Amino acid sequence: MSSSPVTDIHSHFLPKEWPDLAERFGTPDWPWMRHTEAGKAMLMVGEKEFRPVYDACWDAGRRIEEMDRDGIDRQVISATPILFAYQRSAAHAADCARLFNDLALGICGKGQGRLLSLCQVPLQDTDAACEELSRAMRAGHVGVQIGNHVGDRNLDDEGLITFLQHCADEGAAVLVHPWDMLARERTTRYMMAWTVGMPAETQLGVVSMILGGAFDRLPESLRLCFAHGGGSFAFLLGRLDNAWRRRDIVRGKSRNLPSSYLRRFYVDSAVFDPTALRFLADVMGEDRVMLGSDYPFPLGEEIVGELIRTAAGFSDAARARMLGGNAAEFLNLADSQVN
Ligand code: CO
Repeated sequence: MSSSPVTDIHSHFLPKEWPDLAERFGTPDWPWMRHTEAGKAMLMVGEKEFRPVYDACWDAGRRIEEMDRDGIDRQVISATPILFAYQRSAAHAADCARLFNDLALGICGKGQGRLLSLCQVPLQDTDAACEELSRAMRAGHVGVQIGNHVGDRNLDDEGLITFLQHCADEGAAVLVHPWDMLARERTTRYMMAWTVGMPAETQLGVVSMILGGAFDRLPESLRLCFAHGGGSFAFLLGRLDNAWRRRDIVRGKSRNLPSSYLRRFYVDSAVFDPTALRFLADVMGEDRVMLGSDYPFPLGEEIVGELIRTAAGFSDAARARMLGGNAAEFLNLADSQVN
């Protein structure tokens, strides 16, 4: 029995430096890096401190070192969602996407073949998003990371469905990441935007796709994953099914019961609790959960892969699937043969 390479499908990068975007575009509050000491920096948004980061964000060598420490063969890097720029002009977001997509490939190029990348696109403009996806796929990205909404447009929006169809046509894996969290005015303290807002956003993304009929319209060949275990989705699926059965207004454009769409998408394993992981695998299937860590950010899994390796109640084969086999299928890599 051979196992696929252990693959972390949810990790982020930040280049060490990039052009001054506020100056480039003539608009304020773009992200930039304030390097504080050797190997450390503060990610800034305008004049506000956003997050302390360290050199694993930009140094492929450091990443490889830490991957070896944690027993990770392969890592998929994607941008930090504050760089999506969906709320900006499409032209600026497209320029920003090209810039960071090329910088991501630069980091992967130093990763001994063990780093792969998901691009970002100007999702507020469907044509521009499709164009950048095609360019990035030709340049070497394996898929795309998108936010779970664009302003008030959820994932069942016509333009977003058109983009997802294009992802299927291009064979691009899609990681849906929460961003621009709801109830901002009530979650300003204690990082509640991360602990409460993000899981709710992700759930909203999945539910919109199901009830909006997106899965009914999109081809089964579309490979899609929701970050952070799908947020609040799995735990509240019974509530959604119950509502769907009892009130026709809940059903929207969906043809089938919400729980019948679980074969259409993956989730990552970033739930930080063995009972939650077991529950998630019971709901979604052991072939639908993939290692995802949020490395190297402060709220990511500290020893990447530890949860899957140590949680009770999984067979060796199930662990191998979650550590790598499912990711190989999601990414459509040749080594997807698993037992
Ligand atoms: Co993340």
